[in-house]
Amino acid sequence: MYVYDEHDRQIAAERVAQFRDQTERALAGELREDEFLPLRLQNGLYVQRLAPMLRIAVPYGMLRSAQLRRLARITRDYDKGYAHFTTRQNVQLNWPAIEDVPDILAELAEVEMHANQTSGNCIRNTTTDQFSGVQADEITDPRPYCEIIRQWSTFHPEFAFLPRKFKVAVNASEHTDRAAIQVHDIGLQMVRNDQGELGFRVHVGGGLGRTPMVGPVIREFLPELDLLTYLEAVLRVYNRYGRRDNKFKARIKILVKALTPEGFAAKVEEEWSHIKDSPTRLTEEAIRQFKGYFTEPDYQQVPDVTDTLATQRFENREFDQWITHNVDSHKHPGYAIVTLTMKKTGTPPGDVSDRQLEQIAEVADRYSFGEVRVTHQQNVVLADVRKDELFELWQTITPMGFATANLNTLTDVICCPGGDYCALANAKSIPVAEAIQRQFDDLDFLYDIGNIDLNISGCMNACGHHHVGNIGVLGVDKKGQEFYQISLGGSSHHDAAIGKILGPSFARDDMPEVIQKIINVYVDHRTEEEPFLDTYRRIGIEPFKERVYA
Ligand code: HEM
Ligand code: SF4
Repeated sequence: MYVYDEHDRQIAAERVAQFRDQTERALAGELREDEFLPLRLQNGLYVQRLAPMLRIAVPYGMLRSAQLRRLARITRDYDKGYAHFTTRQNVQLNWPAIEDVPDILAELAEVEMHANQTSGNCIRNTTTDQFSGVQADEITDPRPYCEIIRQWSTFHPEFAFLPRKFKVAVNASEHTDRAAIQVHDIGLQMVRNDQGELGFRVHVGGGLGRTPMVGPVIREFLPELDLLTYLEAVLRVYNRYGRRDNKFKARIKILVKALTPEGFAAKVEEEWSHIKDSPTRLTEEAIRQFKGYFTEPDYQQVPDVTDTLATQRFENREFDQWITHNVDSHKHPGYAIVTLTMKKTGTPPGDVSDRQLEQIAEVADRYSFGEVRVTHQQNVVLADVRKDELFELWQTITPMGFATANLNTLTDVICCPGGDYCALANAKSIPVAEAIQRQFDDLDFLYDIGNIDLNISGCMNACGHHHVGNIGVLGVDKKGQEFYQISLGGSSHHDAAIGKILGPSFARDDMPEVIQKIINVYVDHRTEEEPFLDTYRRIGIEPFKERVYA
């Protein structure tokens, strides 16, 4: 993964010193709140319902064990002993004191971490597939391109004050999309053209929140060397024409819709024609250099353990289930990709304690070259585990609570922090996730109903991605009471779609039963092997409505 050079280190240190000075002046009353606001947001600091919140970037989701240990210590020394993994490869601290934030940022900088541009109306952390670089079916490793975008966008003066926040995601697999690129402001799908050249299919104008949209394609093939000049052209068009008069209409998706994708694309092409060959254009040499930061770990020639594994699986049903659900194949022979699920019933999705962060660091050091990746679904991945060590790893992480074999099932819920932490919430979301997990506590039944994305948000901002859940749950407020609206049929994968609202909302206590009825309709109507989403697409929403509101 990318390692800071002396320039990076200097930039990070200068930024911390600058923010320390700004914070001291704000606390002394020398900076007004409206002056401090954009400064603190660009350093990741929100002021929330119960306390400030600090959002820390995890570029392309990767963390080294030293960084995990530092995060653990920070949560212990400056917070309440836990942190929260978000849906965009960030880590959030929910209870830091404002006066401590410069110290926290200094501690992070020591381990090459930062909170730059994790909030505010600027280009946010670029996210990607947590299996990047290790899965067999990707076009190429997308992480060097994410790092190129990170270096280009960090402190880019022209794009520091956009009409609204701006999120970019990159995906390189032909068959899966674990980064939800079509609901980002810019989604980049890596492709090869007919001549075998590498490039990007460019989606622009996706997003969730108040007006959810799937991003249309505005360019089928962008050659890789043109990545930055083209992004620059898209952002210039947005910066010039995006609405600044109305916060709810300020995202690029509204502009793309207003101009139509074709109209927007034409403006981008016009702008691009001026800057296409500018010094920002990438070179083969530059790309080679960035690729050099993502060298393979020191893979060993490992014995083929297929027979041993088969025996272990045969003799131990729980291990067998874990392999089936939480372990994926790796492009390197003898290795596997393991997902640690952070969704044990009763644990708020995404929450990790200081001790758990240290445990993750320990298993990363012991079993996966000291590195992990955090996922869009709020889980953690060990990307390079030897197959002959899988059984031992499973025995190690089971007591830690990371081996719940429910990955991608109904109880692997994506859930925002909701009313428990978030000032914008209309309703709590964590207790709904937990109630549903309790309702579906039988793993065999979960396996029988197959992969289902259940996503929950506590308000229409959609941090929990409810619009793109196969089943989406949205907390709403009705005369001071918490209610929950359901949508069905959303997807964040290659077949991205926004879910359709089922009907009137439900009280919190009714939610497990309502989800049960939805699942029952699916079970009654499915053909053999048909996933939930396909059944929904075949039979439509009516049968679900009839049963749930009967
Ligand atoms: C607790 C503090 C948080 C605050 C104040 C906050 C604020 C917001 C706001 C205002 C929006 C709407 C943006 C829009 O207008 O489109 C939003 C969307 C979003 N937030 Fe959060 N959020 C918080 C926590 C989180 C967490 C914990 C996650 C991940 C679980 C998250 C991930 C996202 C995502 C993915 C969106 C989707 C909207 C889009 O990109 O179009 N946020 N958030
Ligand atoms: S969806 Fe709403 S309630 Fe949930 S974290 Fe985002 S802003 Fe807060």
